[in-house]
Amino acid sequence: MKNFGIEFDSERQIFALQMKDTSYVMGLAGGYLGHLYFGKKINHISDRVAFREKDYSFLEGKPGDKCTFMDGFPFEYGTSGVGDFRVSCLNLANSRGDIACELKYKEHRIYDGKKGISGLPASYGSEAGTKTLEIVLADAAGLCEVTLSYSIFENLNVVARSISITNISNESIYIDKILSSCIELPYKGQDIISLHGSWARERRADRRAIGHGKIAIESTRGISSHQEHPFIALVDKETTESSGDAIGMAFVYSGNFIAEVERTQHDVLRAVLGISPNQFNWKLEPGESFNAPEAVLVESHQGLGEMSRTFHDFIREHIIRSPYLHEQRPILINNWEATYFDFNMDKLLEIARQAKACGIEMLVMDDGWFGKRNSDNSSLGDWTDDLTKLPLGVKGLCEKVNEIGLAMGIWFEPEMISPDSELYRTHPDWALAIDGRDASECRNQFVLDLTRKEVVDYVYECVARVLRETNIQYIKWDMNRPLTDVGSSVTRAGEIHHRYMLAVYELMEKLTAEFPKLLLENCSSGGGRFDMGMLYYSPQIWCSDDTDAMERLSIQEGTALIYPLSAIGAHVSICPNHIVGRTTDFRTRGYVALAGTFGYELDITKLSDEEKEMIREQVADYKKYNHIVREGDYYRITSCSDLVPRYDSEYSYSWMCVTKDKSEALYTYVQERGGANKRPELVKLAGLDPDAEYVLEDGRSFFGDELMNVGFVVDKIYGDGAAQIYYLVEKRAMI
Ligand code: DGJ
Repeated sequence: MKNFGIEFDSERQIFALQMKDTSYVMGLAGGYLGHLYFGKKINHISDRVAFREKDYSFLEGKPGDKCTFMDGFPFEYGTSGVGDFRVSCLNLANSRGDIACELKYKEHRIYDGKKGISGLPASYGSEAGTKTLEIVLADAAGLCEVTLSYSIFENLNVVARSISITNISNESIYIDKILSSCIELPYKGQDIISLHGSWARERRADRRAIGHGKIAIESTRGISSHQEHPFIALVDKETTESSGDAIGMAFVYSGNFIAEVERTQHDVLRAVLGISPNQFNWKLEPGESFNAPEAVLVESHQGLGEMSRTFHDFIREHIIRSPYLHEQRPILINNWEATYFDFNMDKLLEIARQAKACGIEMLVMDDGWFGKRNSDNSSLGDWTDDLTKLPLGVKGLCEKVNEIGLAMGIWFEPEMISPDSELYRTHPDWALAIDGRDASECRNQFVLDLTRKEVVDYVYECVARVLRETNIQYIKWDMNRPLTDVGSSVTRAGEIHHRYMLAVYELMEKLTAEFPKLLLENCSSGGGRFDMGMLYYSPQIWCSDDTDAMERLSIQEGTALIYPLSAIGAHVSICPNHIVGRTTDFRTRGYVALAGTFGYELDITKLSDEEKEMIREQVADYKKYNHIVREGDYYRITSCSDLVPRYDSEYSYSWMCVTKDKSEALYTYVQERGGANKRPELVKLAGLDPDAEYVLEDGRSFFGDELMNVGFVVDKIYGDGAAQIYYLVEKRAMI
């Protein structure tokens, strides 16, 4: 079989997708499409043994019975109503309410390159480096056709899957559920890993055993959410950072989702991912199609570290499109934690002047510059300059900031409307609400009904006007509440959530097309919408409202399980920290923020000269090391989380970034807790060239194989949250 490519063996009725070192194999049995294998690369497959066609349970019928077959066959895309009792991917009803769909192979095509998905973010790839397989399945009773698309990418162990359905009948179909990915694999004691959290506590790794029945990870909040994340990994019990099997599944979507794992009666795992069926019901007229978003499957047989690095490469090479992707991002200072709503032009200009003197490159004006926005209880939707705060308007302020020598960015929350706003007084029907019910004013605001074209047009013009009239180069696009009271005067209730997401994507697509040089940073009360859908439009996302460096250790570790550090919005903020009240060393705050986009979130005018000097040092560090962090490979070295079973460290988080050519590395070590009479840790570094000699900044040198096998003793440091960074350069690269 091919090194990299897709083949169909017509004699054996087998489809094989061959990646760098992974194979994904499917087959046909009696016209049904089944999943055969997803794992370490195999070069030969001569039988469809994994279908186990002859050894199904005898309880429901005889081997060969349709009933027995449907209950046990490893469907590539399980449907409901016809005897597959496992978690279903597709639930349809016709206008009489009949619920059944039975999909059989119709045709397939294999081609170079990859198509986009209309209206949705999706991975992209070149003709030469990407291959796609489309398999068309048709319902046995003529209700619909379903196209399953699979793309693979040269040098990556990744399958990108998406689904589209077309109504080929002559009556309306109602889609109650349409998921994007489904795999079946034998249970061998795997754990499931998900990312769990809350506001200011996003994406902490959660690893646990899989019992019988189902585990569901879901968001129904209209955003991918702080609470659960559109991602699961199935990993062997023994899987560590550097060994063992891991399969990760993540969603290129920012709205409601569900990921489910079912351990069946026969100890088979079925894992699915897609739009949550909760509050979803889509009417499909004859001839119409519906595209479900893309799911990304990553396979690693070299542990979780390799899974993460594969996601990182994939996201950098095939998801993020921004021209900033490979650029060192401007070091920004954001005034949110410095002033909240209490600022004016003079205050911002003073921040800008002092920031400039420390080497900071951009001022971002956060919430509070428009309407009568002196707290969070008014003005969303009234995107006009507050001239009491900004007498020269945003344009005049921007000019002055530019004169000081800083670029300027601005905050928007385009999807919202305050009940106390001119916009709401004029268009109360523009807010999502259910007729006859009081809508909840979460954070004193309603959500705009973006399923209405006139609302989308209004929102776009508000944002675009500011960009057209000023020299603003960055937008922080915020979204601060979940969708409740999901009703619209124009849109069917079951379609609102998804149509809302399509409108958000349409807005971002239009904005980045009209302003191609715009640096867009997404945000949702911190990291409530940190996902691949958003990364398709913005190269970075504000990771969490919790800027406390110690809290950020687990938040950023969990985020980096999937997302590259170049996408993780991280800033140095003031202490005691506004969220947790903790005081952490200024240097440590800098080291933790260096593992992201880097910037400041504090009132620089109140800092001591010593702290300002430390900012200058941090700015220099950022410029020296950012290329390693932004473009390099990431290795978790020690951790206090339960991502992998660890026996070596229980009181530090440390990670390494290594350039692709392995000539430079940055190792960051943060001691979470100081301990009495503890020897400094001996840590095994990773990702280095075993035969290369690496020189540290203090002049010591070690070979890669020593550092990775014998280990490296970190410096003795004192106190909770003490930290150290180590820059390693290959000796040859120094000459
Ligand atoms: C939530 C964001 O995460 C904060 O950084 C800040 O922009 C506020 N919203 C402003 O309302």
